[in-house]
Amino acid sequence: MRPYDSTSHRTPSGTVRFLRSSRFSQRPLVTAKQRGEKTSTYFTGGTLKLVSMLMLKYGVDVEGHDVDVDEGITFTDGELWHEQRTFAVRHLKQLGYGKQAMDSMMRTEVLGLLETLLREGGGGRREVRVGGYVTPCVLNVLWVLVTGVRFSSWDDARLQHLLQLMSQRARAFDMSGGTLNLFPWIRFIAPEWSGYRIITRINNELTAIIMGAINAHCKRYNPNVTNDLIDAYLHEMEARKHLSSSNFSYDQLTQICVDFFIAGAIPIGATLDFLVLMMLLHPEVQQKAQEEIDSVVGRNRLPQLNDRPKLPYVEAVLMELQRMYIITPVTGPRRVTRDTTLHGYNIPKDTTVLISLWSVHRDQKHWEDPDMFRPERFIDTRGLLIKDDWLLNFGVGKRRCLGEALGRSCVFLFSAGLLQRYEILSVPGKSPPPSAPVPGITMSPPPYNVLLKPRIEQAVTS
Ligand code: HEM
Repeated sequence: MRPYDSTSHRTPSGTVRFLRSSRFSQRPLVTAKQRGEKTSTYFTGGTLKLVSMLMLKYGVDVEGHDVDVDEGITFTDGELWHEQRTFAVRHLKQLGYGKQAMDSMMRTEVLGLLETLLREGGGGRREVRVGGYVTPCVLNVLWVLVTGVRFSSWDDARLQHLLQLMSQRARAFDMSGGTLNLFPWIRFIAPEWSGYRIITRINNELTAIIMGAINAHCKRYNPNVTNDLIDAYLHEMEARKHLSSSNFSYDQLTQICVDFFIAGAIPIGATLDFLVLMMLLHPEVQQKAQEEIDSVVGRNRLPQLNDRPKLPYVEAVLMELQRMYIITPVTGPRRVTRDTTLHGYNIPKDTTVLISLWSVHRDQKHWEDPDMFRPERFIDTRGLLIKDDWLLNFGVGKRRCLGEALGRSCVFLFSAGLLQRYEILSVPGKSPPPSAPVPGITMSPPPYNVLLKPRIEQAVTS
């Protein structure tokens, strides 16, 4: 099976070129462009206070809409967004996501990943690229959340199709560089160049896969059963059918599911790819994390969610990883919903802003050595974990990630399982990959392979 690959053939342009540019490396906090203006204003000197003020106090809201999308959660705002988001958050909680109830389901996926890596990596003899194998497992977790069942296998045609579409979509978005979000009208003038045509095709194909699952749920609809998000949404539609108007519709449901797949699958795979890279470049950190797992969990069972509080060093490694390599370095385009003065600049209502979360994660005044990979910064003298408000990898404010609990749990279980089972080694004769990320709408590491030497002889049981 071909693993998922979001980095191949990336062509930077637009926002992506901006992320690569010296302006970005000078750490702008915000870039703001008013309607009709050709140039952007860059506010430099990112601090948590300024980002929080903008996102929490000034009610910055989302603007730039996805191509032909005014449904779902990610690309809507106002009352519709609030209602749909509140519903989704409530049902993620009720279905137990990020909690113990889902622990064993996620560990089934972890076990599947570890077995695949053993097979593909030939027990440490063949090179593998780990992140590409993580994404199908995460898609399976999300598929259970949305439809209640797993894909039958990695070769399931729908899973393969989903993977292909996600990869094509990431590439198309990087190529369009966010231009479509900022100037949606450009699709009428340059549908090919702007990426409009390809993104529309991909959106339609994603929608068709989800609609298949929704139709199957409708056929076996039972008002007393709630196994998954589709069941819960259909109940809500049923409860509102007597109302003269309702935002709960099949189109909304479809787009929420699409949002989940797009927002959820890619960051987890990319985070695992960065973990493997850092473990390769910092073998002493790898060893320390493995020693902690050995002493707390042992080698006879997989790490589980209730081990997390007892593994502060592993947690610190994951925090440091997500600080240095924030997968969403810049938030989606946002609209300032009222006249705002910030950092000496006047930002009129309706200005579009891009907010650099990266600038907060790399602020020298706060972190002192922000370009160093140093998990110890999150551990106090008693060996306990230090929480830090400056970690914004799940965003901040009302548009903060709604899948945070699930995302955190997946990152922990996949990472701890991988470290428990394999020693991550570089490929002899090949120079280590650069640690600089490949910028994009989401960040990913440069493509590289590793050897995975098994640390455990017998098969791990879940
Ligand atoms: C390591 C994993 C993840 C990371 C790092 C991450 C990060 C983020 C960030 C930074 C945002 C805010 C973006 C912005 O302000 O423009 C966001 C939004 C979002 N995330 Fe996540 N995410 C992760 C996992 C997930 C998962 C598993 C799901 C699905 C269950 C999900 C669903 C969403 C949705 C729907 C939004 C849009 C929220 C809104 O606009 O109200 N994310 N995510």
